Amino acid sequence: MTKYIIANWKMRMTKAGAKTFVQGLAALRDLPKEASTILCPPFPLIESCLGHPSFDVGAQTSGAFLQGPYTGEVSASLLKEMGCKYVIVGHSERRVHYGETNGVVKQKAQKVLQEGMTPILCIGEPLEIYKNGQANTYLQQQLLESLPEEGPLLIAYEPVWAIGTGETPSLETIEKTHYFLTSLLKTETPIVYGGSVTGDNAKDILGLPSVSGVLVGGASLSLETFLPIIRSV
Ligand code: PGA
Repeated sequence: MTKYIIANWKMRMTKAGAKTFVQGLAALRDLPKEASTILCPPFPLIESCLGHPSFDVGAQTSGAFLQGPYTGEVSASLLKEMGCKYVIVGHSERRVHYGETNGVVKQKAQKVLQEGMTPILCIGEPLEIYKNGQANTYLQQQLLESLPEEGPLLIAYEPVWAIGTGETPSLETIEKTHYFLTSLLKTETPIVYGGSVTGDNAKDILGLPSVSGVLVGGASLSLETFLPIIRSV
């Protein structure tokens, strides 16, 4: 079974760092065949990541509109033209810092699909909700309101409290949550887990039957920390 290993570089990578990373990754010939690796760089670095058969490239967000007078936005059609195959939509950092609502996330996902790319739709509950035992209710609403009319897509379950904190839900919680999300979906959809994934916990997480991959932030910034995750597949 394919396991998606997705690097989300956020606003952290440099031009030189990307070059070293990409050259190093592209040179490797012994990566697990079941691993489908996707790099999601900041927009200006997309071009320098393209053209390597052993991994695909995705964007970290895209515009909610087709094209037009939207200063600073990047359209899904341009991302497609560049060579992206995936676009992350609805990451919690977009929802929190840029006010992206479920409705906007859905609109973005639809545009990504219209261009023939695959959205990586992120959902996840904040700490308060998790502590109060209301995660499933929260996730259900977030998922159903953000979900495009039809796929194909990937879903990323990323508890907000697990992102960049070194904390992760128990394996049992991840498994149960993924099965719960699956039960809400009409079509078979891969669900990846994200939030403090490292080379130390990747094997256990990827070993869960309901987990189709991982979305990796901090540990995706260097090959030293990212390769052990790919090799955990
Ligand atoms: P993290 O980020 O791996 O640094 O926790 C994951 C993400 O935000 O996608």
